[in-house]
Amino acid sequence: MSTSHGTLYEAPVAKRLQDKVAIITGGASGIGESTARLFVRYGAKVVIADIQDDLGQSVCKDVDPTGQTISYIHCDVTKEADLENLIDSTMEKYGKLDIMYNNAGVVDAFGKSILGTNFEDFKRVIDVNVLGSFLGAKHAARVMIPAKKGCILFTASVASIIAGETPNAYTTSKHAIVGLTKNLCVELGQYGIRVNCISPFALATPLLTDAVNMEASTLEAAAYRSAVLKGTLIKAEDIAEAAVFLSSDESRYVNGLNLVVDGGYTTTNPAFSMSVKASLQ
Ligand SMILES: NC(=O)c1ccc[n+]([C@@H]2O[C@H](COP(=O)([O-])OP(=O)(O)OC[C@H]3O[C@@H](n4cnc5c(N)ncnc54)[C@H](O)[C@@H]3O)[C@@H](O)[C@H]2O)c1
Repeated sequence: MSTSHGTLYEAPVAKRLQDKVAIITGGASGIGESTARLFVRYGAKVVIADIQDDLGQSVCKDVDPTGQTISYIHCDVTKEADLENLIDSTMEKYGKLDIMYNNAGVVDAFGKSILGTNFEDFKRVIDVNVLGSFLGAKHAARVMIPAKKGCILFTASVASIIAGETPNAYTTSKHAIVGLTKNLCVELGQYGIRVNCISPFALATPLLTDAVNMEASTLEAAAYRSAVLKGTLIKAEDIAEAAVFLSSDESRYVNGLNLVVDGGYTTTNPAFSMSVKASLQ
C-alpha cells in the first residue's frame, strides 16, 4: 500500500473500521480520495464511486493492486440507475453496506450575481449536490433498513453555515444537505441508522481551484491567511479523519450532527474589527 499520501498517518493505526464496508462517492479525487485511503488503512473495504474512471481506477491500484480492499465503480450520482447498480453490486460483492459517504460535489464559477447565473448552472449544482446525495442515501437506506444498522454521511461545507462567500447554488445546496441530514437522522434512527454530515473549510482540491481559477499553492496561502486557527493548514486528510470518527463505533451515539471542520472559521465575522482597525490607521 502506498504511503505517499499518508503523511499524517505514518504511525501504526488501530483498525477502527475493521471489516466495515464503505462506499464513497466522489472518491477519485480530493476529500473522497483521502477518505478512501484512510478507510482502507483503518481496515475497511472501500468502493469508490465516481465519474472519473481512469483516476478512480488508478487510486484503487495505488492503494491495493490486488483489489481486495478497494475497488472502483462508475457512478454518476445524478442517475438513479447508477446508484441502484452501485448499491446492488456492493451488496453482491460484500454482502453488506455499513457506511455510505455521499461526498461527490460540484460548484459553479465564483463571482456571478443572481442575474448572471443561468438555469442550467444552478440546476447542475443542485442535481449533483442535493439530488445525488438524496439518491445515495435512499438506496443505501434500502439495504441498511433490513440490516437495522448503518451509517450515512454527507459532505456539506462551511457554506451550510455562512453565506456570501460561495455561489448561490452551492450555498443553497449545502444548506439543503444539512436539512436532509437532520430529516434522515429522525426518520432512520428507528432502524439504528446514524446520519451525519461534515462541513469543511476551503481546501485546494480541483473543485475549488478550478472554480476560483487559482493554483493550489495560491489558494492554500489565501485559506491560511483567512483562517482563525494558525499554525495548521487544513488538508483533505483532516476531513477524512472526521469521516473515520463518524463512521466508526466510537461515534455510535452521534446522530444528526453537522461536524464543522473549519478551525473555527465560522465562529466569527472579522469584517467589523477590520473596518475599525482600517479607520484607525
Ligand atoms: N474543496 C473545498 O474547499 C470544499 C469545502 C467544503 C466542502 N467541499 C465538498 O467536498 C466534496 C468533495 O469535493 P472535493 O473538494 O474533494 O473536490 P474534488 O473535485 O477533488 O472531488 C469531487 C469529486 O466528485 C466527483 N463528481 C462530480 N460530479 C459527480 C457526479 N455527478 N457523480 C459522481 N461523482 C461526481 C468528481 O469527479 C470528483 O472526483 C464536495 O461535496 C464539495 O462540495 C469541498
